[in-house]
Amino acid sequence: MDQARSVIVTGGGGAIGRACVRALCDDGARVAIVDIDFDAAKRVADEMGELGFDVAPFECNVASFEETQRLTEDVYDRFGYIDGLVNNAGIMPHQDVSFSTATMDDWREILDINLGGTLNLSRCTLPFLKESVRRRSMPSSIVNMSSFLVLIGARIPQDGYTASKGAIASLSRSMAVELGEDQIRVNAVAPGPIETPHVAKFFSTQEARAKRIERFPLGRFGRPEDVAGAISFLISDKSSWITGVLLPIDGGASCNYV
Ligand SMILES: NC(=O)c1ccc[n+]([C@@H]2O[C@H](COP(=O)([O-])OP(=O)(O)OC[C@H]3O[C@@H](n4cnc5c(N)ncnc54)[C@H](O)[C@@H]3O)[C@@H](O)[C@H]2O)c1
Repeated sequence: MDQARSVIVTGGGGAIGRACVRALCDDGARVAIVDIDFDAAKRVADEMGELGFDVAPFECNVASFEETQRLTEDVYDRFGYIDGLVNNAGIMPHQDVSFSTATMDDWREILDINLGGTLNLSRCTLPFLKESVRRRSMPSSIVNMSSFLVLIGARIPQDGYTASKGAIASLSRSMAVELGEDQIRVNAVAPGPIETPHVAKFFSTQEARAKRIERFPLGRFGRPEDVAGAISFLISDKSSWITGVLLPIDGGASCNYV
């Protein structure tokens, strides 16, 4: 039997998503690269295709249940089965600050995409993940994208974002318990700041960078590949008895008091 995994990566056209697609491809997986920005998904698909990997780009707004339903059927048609899901798509708006000035309307888009997208994709892929377990006798695996901001507070708050990622962490644990008997593992990762173009805007001066890097025992910001390595491990059978975990990927920042 063909044992290559077939994995959906949402936000696959973005910085961490791209690294994740590459890591999964290196592990031998077939990857559905899903993004609201089809051009971005296609760029990553073209890059991976040139390296000989079996990937396909898909356009989908994860906040829409109808679109995620259509997407999972399309991915199933393309690959024949789905046994992995990485709920990576997410937004971190700069205007999202303190809860003390925010309204639910300010938070709506963040919650709809970050939390709602995780819910929609998990719900729509579930029948396919279960079918894979039955047909292929292999456990399926879901990895959800949280943030180290759910473990520690921040002086410059992004409360809507943090609340959405906290809900994702809790939901992941709950899903892990619920889906254990179906042999579907569910874990979440909690990255600290990763050097992506978006995050770089927060640390535009050398001084701001140095001040922040001081917080990290490993002495540097994260790289997309740091996150991708952990995700490929959690998707693979190397983590076959790990479920319900929230894994910090933060260079030690969340355990550093000073
Ligand atoms: N970069 C960091 O420091 C960091 C730290 C912790 C967690 N994260 C999380 O990691 C994930 C990826 O972040 P990134 O830094 O690669 O960001 P990114 O902006 O480079 O990538 C996010 C991707 O998601 C896509 N996307 C946005 N809304 C979507 C929607 N409604 N439907 C489908 N796709 C959508 C975007 O088009 C983009 O390609 C996010 O969930 C983010 O919150 C990032």
